[in-house]
Amino acid sequence: MQDQCQLFSMVPLLRAAEKASQQGKPAAIGAFNVNFYSQAMGILEGLRRSDAPGIIQASRGANKFQGGPEKIQGMVLQAMNDSNHTLPVALHLDHGNEEQAKVCTDEGFSSVMIDASTLEFEDNIKLTQDIVQYAHAKGLSVEGEYGKLAGVEEDVIHEATTYADPYLVPFFFNESKADALAVAYGTSHGPNKGSAGGLEKLAVHIVEQSYKGMVAYGQNNDHFLVSHGSSTVPPEIVAEINAQGGTVKGAAGIPMHKIQEAVVAGIRKINIDTDLRLGITATFRKWFNDNPGVETTSADILMPIKKALDEKLDAIDPRDYLKVIDAGLLRTDPKGTILEEVMILVQERIASHVEMLVQKFGSAGLAGTVDRVSLSEMAAIYKA
Ligand code: G3H
Ligand code: 13P
Ligand code: ZN
Repeated sequence: MQDQCQLFSMVPLLRAAEKASQQGKPAAIGAFNVNFYSQAMGILEGLRRSDAPGIIQASRGANKFQGGPEKIQGMVLQAMNDSNHTLPVALHLDHGNEEQAKVCTDEGFSSVMIDASTLEFEDNIKLTQDIVQYAHAKGLSVEGEYGKLAGVEEDVIHEATTYADPYLVPFFFNESKADALAVAYGTSHGPNKGSAGGLEKLAVHIVEQSYKGMVAYGQNNDHFLVSHGSSTVPPEIVAEINAQGGTVKGAAGIPMHKIQEAVVAGIRKINIDTDLRLGITATFRKWFNDNPGVETTSADILMPIKKALDEKLDAIDPRDYLKVIDAGLLRTDPKGTILEEVMILVQERIASHVEMLVQKFGSAGLAGTVDRVSLSEMAAIYKA
């Protein structure tokens, strides 16, 4: 395990967003899913362009793809060092289970999510509480989830949204002591969020009511609301994928103005995965089309990627076409390798999208306002 000291708990980052919001500038911190090095570099570059604190998160799937938390941590720290990234960053486990949350706590993450949302309410609180005890002892922040988002969540599929009851949110925080809570308010994971951007399912008043309750109980400086499934699914990126031979159908995201409404209502962390997947896929498809026959120049690496893209025209998850090569290649700087050219384009695509998103989320310019409390200091605060 490498040095964790460059990584922060989510708490000081989310608190900076809460403070800005209280001062009349509604803000939320962007949390971006990562699966490979150039993706991490793109996220970091976008954060720097906006002087924003940020959360890099890896799902259980991402941990499996890269071979575990130590590998992910090494990759992210490498990207931070290679780009001289000095702005505050948290490395967070996304949608963890009990085992993974404990492993990530022990192996280099600075924050974990325990997604016990499939359990009964009381059991959800109990398991969240257990992880809080485990992770707070090392100063890590913990995110729980209450309610069920429609769509695919790791390996679980929910047909419909089960909305969080806002009146129980302060109770959840009080009992579990979680630092952050994902509340189901009608967003969903993936590129198909429903017609009209799933607007008919959105219930921002759940966020508003939850936040009001937190303020009433004096929780809002230490506990924070999270919005999952928040990708905007830009139609122009979907159109580009399809113009380059892809067949992504029924794509719709959450309109930016609804995300911003949710930030005004009290959201302080916004999860984005799908938008980055779409940008990466558009870039790969275009690069292969712009460079016909390039796959023969490195048949062992490029050919399998091209073949996987040709076979799965509706692919948007880069792991679908990148799993065909050695994950180790994707964990390091592609400079000097056959992937360098396409990865430069991927990095830029991600950087410009992240830069734009954090501007819209209101966290641009907040990096200097984050109180840089270390994980060991956080552990001492929790213990007191
Ligand atoms: O929760 C969903 C995120 O988009 C992570 O997705 O588990 O496929 O990496 P993943
Ligand atoms: P999207 O699929 O909308 O990007 O949501 C990502 C997410 O919630 C990760 O936990
Ligand atoms: Zn999620």
